[in-house]
Amino acid sequence: MRKLIIDCDPGHDDAIAILIAYAHPEEFEILGLTTVCGNQTIDKVGNNALKIVELLDCDIPVIQGEAKPLKRDPEPQPMAHGESGMDGPVMANPTSTYASLSAVNWMRETILKEDKVTLVCLAPLTNIARLLTEYPEVKDRIEEIVLMGGSVYGGNILPKAEFNIYHDPEAAKIVFNSGVPITTTPLEVCKAGAFPLKEIDDFEGKGKISQFVYELLKFYSGYALRHNMDRTPIFDMTTIIYLLHPEYFKGRKMDVDIELDGQYTRGMTVCEEIGEYSSIDNPVNVLLDVDNEFHNRVFKEAIVALDKKGNKK
Ligand code: BDR
Ligand code: CA
Repeated sequence: MRKLIIDCDPGHDDAIAILIAYAHPEEFEILGLTTVCGNQTIDKVGNNALKIVELLDCDIPVIQGEAKPLKRDPEPQPMAHGESGMDGPVMANPTSTYASLSAVNWMRETILKEDKVTLVCLAPLTNIARLLTEYPEVKDRIEEIVLMGGSVYGGNILPKAEFNIYHDPEAAKIVFNSGVPITTTPLEVCKAGAFPLKEIDDFEGKGKISQFVYELLKFYSGYALRHNMDRTPIFDMTTIIYLLHPEYFKGRKMDVDIELDGQYTRGMTVCEEIGEYSSIDNPVNVLLDVDNEFHNRVFKEAIVALDKKGNKK
């Protein structure tokens, strides 16, 4: 059983990632959802996280994190995620509240109480960079950081940069050079797992969680449609599916560092193959491929399981 802290900015794909993790109580204990500004402002992504927890009727704490990147201004992404950060589903305003600590302090306290914790990072790495800088004593208790971010060959926000890393490159640089073991699910593997648009309608009206996923994907797939794609990556979800079934993924160990500036390259994950001349102490496990059919079967089965579970805790 892995104990997870999910650091996120919901976000349609963050929301689905959280659902898939929650659908597997034998594999994961979700200690909390920490939020960080990324897809939308910290208030909006926090509100969305509370909505997800209320939809699941569970008592996972939501802890608000950093409202801006370490050195830059926030750059929300309404084109991909809408003004609310999770446009599509119409949901009541949440009635629950955030835990009282800041995300960085809550993570420190929580990690030091546990033997080992896995940090699952689905958003810009601002909270994580601050945690590792301010409280380096947590490093030994972090089993692994498994993160959605970066790319080996091309970007989605700039020609060579992926959004999560681009949004706070200084934070990403701290995390990638922290010495903590890291696995990444970059754009390439998320695209390998992309979900066929023609299957989105299959979720409609099947149950409470299916309907939520249907409404999320109806909005979220707009991006793929505008780009003439017949499948959509559900980026953050791929990270959770890796944690469930690493044997279905292929990857390579690489040396990864972060480009901080550059008109086309700010936030680029500069990936170097480990060869006979490299002397890298802590290479990053970079995932590059996944069995598409299996990946999407895990997704669909998890949603069916959540519908069946209903509101039972
Ligand atoms: C990443 O950026 C966000 O828009 C998504 O939630 C995902 O974490 C993909 O580049
Ligand atoms: Ca995200």
